[in-house]
Amino acid sequence: MTTITDNEQQILNAAISFAKEKMSRLHSSHGWDHVERVANLAEHIATSEEEADVFIVKTAAVLHDIARIDEVESGGRTCHAERGSRMAYDFLITQGLEADRADQIRRCVLAHRYRNEHAPKTIEAKILYDADKLDSIGAVGIGRAFLFSGEVGARLHNPDIDINLTQAYSKEDTAYREYMVKLRHISGKMLTAGGRRMAEERHRFMVEFFERLQREVRGDL
Ligand SMILES: [Fe+2]
Ligand SMILES: [Fe+2]
Repeated sequence: MTTITDNEQQILNAAISFAKEKMSRLHSSHGWDHVERVANLAEHIATSEEEADVFIVKTAAVLHDIARIDEVESGGRTCHAERGSRMAYDFLITQGLEADRADQIRRCVLAHRYRNEHAPKTIEAKILYDADKLDSIGAVGIGRAFLFSGEVGARLHNPDIDINLTQAYSKEDTAYREYMVKLRHISGKMLTAGGRRMAEERHRFMVEFFERLQREVRGDL
C-alpha cells in the first residue's frame, strides 16, 4: 500500500467536507456514518494489498455515495453511482488533482454499485466494492437493516411474509426481508482476499442472529 502525501491529504480533507455537505439530508442508515465506516474498511483491506493506492481508495470511499440524495429524490430514476462518479471527477479537478488520478477515482465510484455493466476492474475499485458490501452485513449490517426498516415505518419482524409478494421501501420491508432477499447472498460476492475473510466472519454472525431472532419471536428461547 502507498502512503498519502501532504497535497493528497489536503484534497482528501476537502473531499470529506464536500461529501458531508452532500449527504447531510440523508437518513442515518445511508448517510455519512456509513461512508466513514466504508472508508475505514477500505483502508483496512488496502493494507494487505501491496499494489493499492491508498489515496485513490480513501478518496473514492469518501465520495462514493455523494449522489445518493439525487437517487432518493428522483424516486430511483437517477443512478447514484453514475451521477456521483461525474460529480466526484469534476470536484477533484477543481481541487487541482491530475486528470488521470481523478479518472481512477471516477471509475471506482462508478463501479461500486455493480448492478450494471460497470464491473470493478482495478484493485482500488474492488476494495471499495468490498468495503461498501461489508457494511451491509455482520452486526453493523443487522443494525442498518433495522434502522432502515424503522425509517420506512416497518415492523420489527414478520416471518410469514412471502418475499416475492412484498415490496422494498414498504411497511413489510423488515430487516428479515432484507436479509432473505439480499444480505445472506453478499458474502459470496467479495472481490478481494481481505474482503472475503471479513465477509465470511460477518456472515456467520448474521446467520446466527436471524436464526435466534426466529426462535425468540416464536417464544422458543
Ligand atoms: Fe452506493
Ligand atoms: Fe455506500
